[in-house]
Amino acid sequence: ATTTVFDIVLFGGCGDLSLRKLMPALYRGYAEGSFDSNSRIIPTCRDAETAAGYAEILAKSLQQFLSSDEYDSAVADSFMQLVMPCALDITTVDERWKSLHKLFSKDAEQSRIFYMAVPPAIFGITCENLSQQKMINGQSRIVVEKPIGYDGVTASAINDEIARYFDEKSIFRIDHYLGKETVQNLMALRFTNVIFEQLWDAKSIDHVQISISETVGLEGRAGFYDNAGALRDMVQNHLLQLLCLVAMESPNKLDANSIRAEKLKVLEALRPLTGADVDDYTVRGQYVAGEFNGDLVPGYLEELGKPSSNTETFVAIKAHIDNWRWSKVPFYLSTGKRMKARSAKIVIQFKEVSHRVYDGSVGQMTPNQLIIKLQPGESIQLSLMTKDLTCLETKLKPVSLNLNFSDTYDNFKSDAYKRLILDVAANNPALFIHRDEVDCAWRWIDPIIEQWQQSAHTPDLYRAGSWGPSAAKTLIEQDDRYWFNGESDQ
Ligand code: BG6
Repeated sequence: ATTTVFDIVLFGGCGDLSLRKLMPALYRGYAEGSFDSNSRIIPTCRDAETAAGYAEILAKSLQQFLSSDEYDSAVADSFMQLVMPCALDITTVDERWKSLHKLFSKDAEQSRIFYMAVPPAIFGITCENLSQQKMINGQSRIVVEKPIGYDGVTASAINDEIARYFDEKSIFRIDHYLGKETVQNLMALRFTNVIFEQLWDAKSIDHVQISISETVGLEGRAGFYDNAGALRDMVQNHLLQLLCLVAMESPNKLDANSIRAEKLKVLEALRPLTGADVDDYTVRGQYVAGEFNGDLVPGYLEELGKPSSNTETFVAIKAHIDNWRWSKVPFYLSTGKRMKARSAKIVIQFKEVSHRVYDGSVGQMTPNQLIIKLQPGESIQLSLMTKDLTCLETKLKPVSLNLNFSDTYDNFKSDAYKRLILDVAANNPALFIHRDEVDCAWRWIDPIIEQWQQSAHTPDLYRAGSWGPSAAKTLIEQDDRYWFNGESDQ
């Protein structure tokens, strides 16, 4: 691994994202020697007392969020030497900005990463203050977390605000799904194996499913989530990014511009869903009380503590990409909270063979399926039809070629945030989202939300611990297709 050196300021250093994800990611990077001890990690906390007691908070949360085989108290101690908490109200200009300035490396050109682990409403004022305080050096980069906006208009406003202080090439918009190793493997798989790319189009592929199911509910984020909902929280970013990687043309090169240009073309080719199409091709759901692993789980409204809400905790969409490669190939997208199992996967369903040599008496023909599991348990499976070797007579049997990454790589553990932060440090934007992608994704999402708001239809209810509302099953089954996995339980 190459070693790098940087100063990183975590605005919102005491928040959930910093303690749960960013600090463990930085610890892992440090433990494996990916950055050296001249680097500084500067979490800001509004409250002086919290900043003073930060070491203790951090020590506890590292132990909580790192697994026991990762956590090493000696490494943690030396890691904590790099952490320099700073009490700062980022919306107010006062003396405390000077103390922040003093924490930077003496080398005025050392890379400075400003990580916005704060609500988007204060991105603008933070940038303005950074600029006024002359903290943006030639090697400064800003990292912004989703949600970028609430719709196209608010996203543009946020992007415009940041653009006043940072060039597009210094703005790193994170989508942590792009940092997952299996997601990057998707590109490697497609663009280095002749057997897949030759078949990767409407001639051979019947349809694609991309689904992310979660078992968690609101996780203490009720205020944010009830304003957002699953379409904004998961589809606008993670699911559409996965769709881009599955559907895009091969980039000419692996640099950021080439990859982003190809992803953008996919987003531009998404067939708009408006008016009645939204009613026909989207399903939104909301969970009610149910059971998970034998425990009773409250419904969304109970978790939220409100008598009513139309916010969706589940979405399924039948999408089309109007270009030559994907003509008439549906992409079924789905995501939901409080589902039966945690799983994120991409299923490429191939077509049936063009001519049946074997008749129905030899068993059911199952078209090939390529299943890319992102989590949990990263793996790739390819289902093939074979002759059942245990029968004398000819019987056909589907079998699966399984590539399980935890078997292939000992101790395989990927940390998307670690990977992405190191990419920011190395100034490599390939896995970050360009502004045009954000705009284009919202252009597709906005009319869906508009139609949902206009129609009298409320979300379909589903039991917590199930696979979502029955309408999602109907969405795909009316096309004579089936959700892969758990579908029988809907
Ligand atoms: C986040 C969403 O972006 O992704 C959360 O805001 C969701 O609601 C999370 O739980 C899922 O990420 P992962 O990596 O756990 O699948």
